[in-house]
Amino acid sequence: MAAESIVATDLTDRNSLAFLGTGPVRADRYFSPEYFALEREAIFRRMWLNVGREFELPNPGDFMVRQIEICNASVLIVRGSDGQIRAFHNVCSHRGAMLAGAPSGHTPAFVCPYHQWTYALDGTLRGIPDERNFWGLEKSKCSLTPVSIASHAGFLFINLDPVPAQTLVEFLGAAASLLAALQIDEYTDFFEFGDEIEANWKTIADNFQETYHVSSLHKKSLVGRITGPQNPFGRPLAFEFYGYHRRMTLWGNLAYKPSPVEGLAYRFGTGLTQAKTLMKSPESGAAKIVRDPSEALDVYLIFPNLQMLIGAGSCVIQQFWPISADRTRFVGRQYAPRAANAGQRFSQEYSFSATRDITAEDWPMIQSTHRGAKSGAREYFHFHSQEALCRHLYNSVESVVNTCGGTAAMK
Ligand code: FES
Repeated sequence: MAAESIVATDLTDRNSLAFLGTGPVRADRYFSPEYFALEREAIFRRMWLNVGREFELPNPGDFMVRQIEICNASVLIVRGSDGQIRAFHNVCSHRGAMLAGAPSGHTPAFVCPYHQWTYALDGTLRGIPDERNFWGLEKSKCSLTPVSIASHAGFLFINLDPVPAQTLVEFLGAAASLLAALQIDEYTDFFEFGDEIEANWKTIADNFQETYHVSSLHKKSLVGRITGPQNPFGRPLAFEFYGYHRRMTLWGNLAYKPSPVEGLAYRFGTGLTQAKTLMKSPESGAAKIVRDPSEALDVYLIFPNLQMLIGAGSCVIQQFWPISADRTRFVGRQYAPRAANAGQRFSQEYSFSATRDITAEDWPMIQSTHRGAKSGAREYFHFHSQEALCRHLYNSVESVVNTCGGTAAMK
């Protein structure tokens, strides 16, 4: 797949998206355990995966644990005494017990709960109870196993490949400047929600990267906001493709009339789908781009599984962590600037609840879609031009899998 940026802005012309392909796509990519195994090796064991933001570890000794189920990995991420953030497999060098049990916390050192081997924040093995009764144990070779970690624009990424083929910036390509241009450093309040969903990770990702379903599935929540008489299907304003990464700009209905409670929330903050002027110029890094007020949200996808919805005063992050071909752990987080008063807090809570409720409207249909696909009743599925990002994800996964040895055995 070409790494250069491609922008499609005249989405009323379906042919502007034909370069992605127009034919049907294989259904088995969404449920096949064999294909899932290829995705594991080609994508999740080799590519950079976002695990959070730097501000989540403000002080030496702060740590968090991330489960990467598809790779059977548990990764411990910690800020050391020297201020550096490091990542390790969360596995004790003695006999493999999980070192940190809590999902996050603060500690001066890591003590294994099984036999109390003790590790410094830089992963060095410091203490072994009754050490003299081991035979020839080389303590210096028993440090925690490091995991590659890098940060860009405050976003932390890990890579489970012991020797990553690309640096993080190389992996992000042109999307690196998009992340750097986001003005969300002060968004340090967040609300987290999520669950394990009975669906393939791509089926979940696809749901959140197309608006074709909005007019039927979100009649009570999004119709009228990102749809309107002049745009009944909520056709986005623009799609931008940056190699495997992408951005979509949603259309916003300027005539939308919020309910009284919603209007009150907007008075003290900003609406979930309100227009925004948040972006910095990627070139200068400073000047604000004057946004068309009909632009409601920018939806970013950093391949493979980080999606961000950036609107006025909030940033919603969705992550899709595959567990099996049929099961995915969804993590949603909505970030906002720290509330300065009760009105802003109310506005935040309203927005957090709205995000959770809209997301919940999608789950039954996502799970139903996965069950239907898995039945094997259909060999192929079909993407509408408005589902261009679903096709882009399909193409990206297929491309990476084939680059790494591929699907030849499956065909
Ligand atoms: Fe960790 Fe024994 S497994 S100290």
